Amino acid sequence: MCGIIGYVGPKPVVPLLIEGLKRMEYRGYDSAGVAVYDGTVLHTRRAAGKIAKLEAVLAANPVHGAIGIGHTRWATHGPPTERNAHPHRSADGTISVVHNGIIENVNTLRAALQELGYVFNSDTDTEVLAHLIQELFDGSLEEAVLSALTKVEGTYGLAVLSSRDAGKIVAARKGSPLLIGVGHGENFLASDPSAVLAHTRQVVYLDDGDVAVIEHDAYRVIDAHAATISRKVDRIHWDLAEIERGGYDHFMLKEIFEQPVSVENTMRGRLILDDGTAKLGGINLSHDELLRIDNVIITACGTSWHSALIGEMMIEELCRIPVEVEYASEFRYKNPIVSDRTLCIVISQSGETADTLAAMREAKRRGARTLGLVNVVGSTIAREDDGGVYLHAGPEIGVASTKAFTSQVVALALLTLKLARKHNLSVVRGRELAQAMHDLPAQIQTVLETATVIEAIAEEFKHATNFLYLGRGYSFPTALEGALKLKEISYIHAEGYPAAEMKHGPIALIDDQMPVVFIAPHDAVFDKVVSNIQECRARHGRTIVITTRDEPALKGLIDYEIRIPETVDMLSPVLAAVPLQLLAYYIAVKRGANVDQPRNLAKSVTVE
Ligand code: F6R
Repeated sequence: MCGIIGYVGPKPVVPLLIEGLKRMEYRGYDSAGVAVYDGTVLHTRRAAGKIAKLEAVLAANPVHGAIGIGHTRWATHGPPTERNAHPHRSADGTISVVHNGIIENVNTLRAALQELGYVFNSDTDTEVLAHLIQELFDGSLEEAVLSALTKVEGTYGLAVLSSRDAGKIVAARKGSPLLIGVGHGENFLASDPSAVLAHTRQVVYLDDGDVAVIEHDAYRVIDAHAATISRKVDRIHWDLAEIERGGYDHFMLKEIFEQPVSVENTMRGRLILDDGTAKLGGINLSHDELLRIDNVIITACGTSWHSALIGEMMIEELCRIPVEVEYASEFRYKNPIVSDRTLCIVISQSGETADTLAAMREAKRRGARTLGLVNVVGSTIAREDDGGVYLHAGPEIGVASTKAFTSQVVALALLTLKLARKHNLSVVRGRELAQAMHDLPAQIQTVLETATVIEAIAEEFKHATNFLYLGRGYSFPTALEGALKLKEISYIHAEGYPAAEMKHGPIALIDDQMPVVFIAPHDAVFDKVVSNIQECRARHGRTIVITTRDEPALKGLIDYEIRIPETVDMLSPVLAAVPLQLLAYYIAVKRGANVDQPRNLAKSVTVE
């Protein structure tokens, strides 16, 4: 979603702002802009569309300075046009604002400012901030911002620049991430660490309610009453190479191929083969507390919600504890039943998804223990949960989630193993599961070696307009995930269903044009799925079957076969997801789609 970058220092600011914005392109956006102070006045340059358009605007009409702010906008209030792009300027042109989030009382504020004579030049909620800060300005930018924020309802990560109190950027955070990149004789502001990593590894993550004043040789974090508060300096541990394409055509393909390593990293130091259990240092739950859990709620969105469904099956099967999976956006508004014996597992790649964060806060407020399964280190969910399991999958840049999904399933398996061994799971069965987990990275590698087979299938189906994905048991959430991958990057309509449920409606869609992907590993429900494949074939559906071994029962039923290795039932989604990701990827590429930045999508959805 929207990205913010800011810089104060000795260097020419425009190239730094553009580079920072490009590092955040993966988050999804539809317009971009910068504001630069040249020592006398504030200049604004903006463009609808990609950053290349903004660069063209800057080339035609250059600006120079050593302090500035930049923004990539994902439209909420008003279409993605130049006039709605950030930064927005105050009426007198002395204040520039970039903003992520949503101002909820925008109409009241706009009406009040219009009464005072302010004229609005955009459809955005952000513009009210620029005028409001001008109205309240009395010599100190931070005081004007603090005062403006007392009147604002909603969420924000914002950066403000003024020519009347120059040399500083004032930033504020409530519900939308921001960090300070601490340099030597220069400082940065960003909504995403990837925007500053080329310049510094030292970052200060702002908390909700923080306001920061950033100058070239100093920064301060203050509270709503302007009192200084101390925030620790964190270190970014990953490398720039991890957020570069490294020879692959797309980030998505790189991330699919990274999965043997990312899954290995999720398990590193955590799997105890001899005892058939897992060690998870960060969960902050004692032996007794683990045994006290009466019920589990797992909450998440999108792909993370699919891994939650797999987690539900694992925990119920092995721990015999009731589990409910909730869309975070629904959970937060439904008066859920939660007690102090409820464990609320919160799954999020980014750790910033607004609904997931709100659901976690709601569960906490109602007395649940919260446990975050998060990939991005230092993200808000990771900082606010009661305990956590980092995925350690490495930065995921492609908008379509791939390696985070397989790492989520593996993290859930680690957690299940630990919990189940505290309950009734035997050491023998525990060892079996632990060994199966240990074998996953090499098995994923085997699946990746079938990429050319999958590419050939993609060629066959690249013009399809609909797809069905069917699976049962652990393969049902995998079917949902396969369908989501295809629709989000290729724009082909795709639906995932429990295979037997097909008979209750979707079967009407099946004809000789309809590709139907069956996820059919040799698991507890294999024979049942074979019957469903037969039903599909009887209607001349075109079957693409992901399965694990030669099987007489499948003879004559398969048009295209993708072979994956065998594993225990609960881990089969990890192996089956990989060919589904590749199928979606190759189809999208063959259709000429922008795989890493699909239309309308954002990597981290920080608005409700
Ligand atoms: C799909 C996808 C989204 C995310 C969802 C949740 O490929 O990426 O559906 O899974 O927006 O995001 P996180 O996991 O960051 O909370």
